[in-house]
Amino acid sequence: MPETNTNRPKILLGQTLAFDGSPFDTGVDAARYERRGAVAVVDGKIAKSGNADDIRNHFPDAETVDYGGYLILAGFIDAHVHYPQTAMIASWGKRLIDWLNTYTFPEESKFGDRAYADDIAGRHLDITLTHGTTTVASFCTSHPESAEAFFAAAKARNMRVAGGKTCMDRNAPDTLCDTPQRAYDESAALIAKWHGRGRAVYAVTPRFSPTSTPEQLAAMGALWAENPTTLMQTHLSEQVDEIEWVKSLYPTARDYLDTYEAHGLLGPGAMFGHAIHLEDRERDRLHEAGAALIHCPTSNCFIGSGLFDMGGLMAAGHLVGLATDTGGGSSFSMLRTMAAAYDIAQLRGTALHPSQLIWLATVGSARAMRMAHQIGNLEQGLEADLTILNLASTPAIAQRHAMADDIWEALFPTIMMGDDRAIADVWVAGTRVEKL
Ligand code: GUN
Ligand code: ZN
Repeated sequence: MPETNTNRPKILLGQTLAFDGSPFDTGVDAARYERRGAVAVVDGKIAKSGNADDIRNHFPDAETVDYGGYLILAGFIDAHVHYPQTAMIASWGKRLIDWLNTYTFPEESKFGDRAYADDIAGRHLDITLTHGTTTVASFCTSHPESAEAFFAAAKARNMRVAGGKTCMDRNAPDTLCDTPQRAYDESAALIAKWHGRGRAVYAVTPRFSPTSTPEQLAAMGALWAENPTTLMQTHLSEQVDEIEWVKSLYPTARDYLDTYEAHGLLGPGAMFGHAIHLEDRERDRLHEAGAALIHCPTSNCFIGSGLFDMGGLMAAGHLVGLATDTGGGSSFSMLRTMAAAYDIAQLRGTALHPSQLIWLATVGSARAMRMAHQIGNLEQGLEADLTILNLASTPAIAQRHAMADDIWEALFPTIMMGDDRAIADVWVAGTRVEKL
């Protein structure tokens, strides 16, 4: 059973890592690292973080949890997942459209069964928690039951999440297709029930332009305009064949992004998964509009999609989050995802610093989800979603860690080689998650 939340302050002792700014803007100085650090938690929120002695003086009556040399961070935020694809992760040998038809749509067809949806939603969130991920933005299936199951499972775990019914009205099996009106009505009913309830946020979710008619995209745009505090999530320019298909389905569109833009689906709070093969106009418009690009590096390798331009997009000031894209992505781990982001950036000539990788998986994703005022950092007033890393979790990592001269060298082997064994503990809204 999870521990109950009491008003008595708790202090978590360990190394701590937080951010005063973005390491993409101000370099490593943006990071606030304490070798003898602490995080004070009161009523599920971070009351203070910083030097351990200062924090202890501030909260003399607090209960302490001593994590020794472990590193305390904000919980990881996975800004693009498909929880219904949990059971079919690591399916072999296809590229995007084939992969959707062969593996994804048959699996997603099962989610009209509420019991199955409950099982997989709970499984997904338990797996993500064991990997140190405390927030996800998830696509559900087109069945409203699948969104109900997702929000209920998140509520049971008190997790801050975003999610939405995935709307499709063409180029998918009949069992998964709705209509513009049904997509609007079912999404609106889910917004009324779940958006802003507890820690849940609704995301209006057209899957991608090939599986929506222009009428359905227009209905989604209208719904989002009527509910401006919801998010909007979809896919953009993941594979070259997909882009050609979009151009043939929307012959008057200027480019792929225009299929969304023309239907009211571009603006702050829009999250575009992948965004790899962008034209100049698309890059400019995404930036101007304040929309977020969600980098899905393991997926982009696994399905063979391409190399996201992290260096160029960050230099241009884009809003970027990081994500597993389960189950197109090949791992539930945001550590593994950071490693893949590092590899891809190297292939494009940029070496991402460990501070940048951790920032992307926490503050970056929080900003992309418009949740930076709630989660993603160790700042006073933020919700106490925390991940505690063991930086020597396997013999291979430990022997490299033993040679480290500073925190970045100490952390980088865990980023590159770590998995759920590196996750020593996880806290959600100030409550320690029992080991699963
Ligand atoms: N594009 C449209 N749907 C999907 C999906 O489920 N996964 C990925 N990776 N890309 C998509
Ligand atoms: Zn996706």
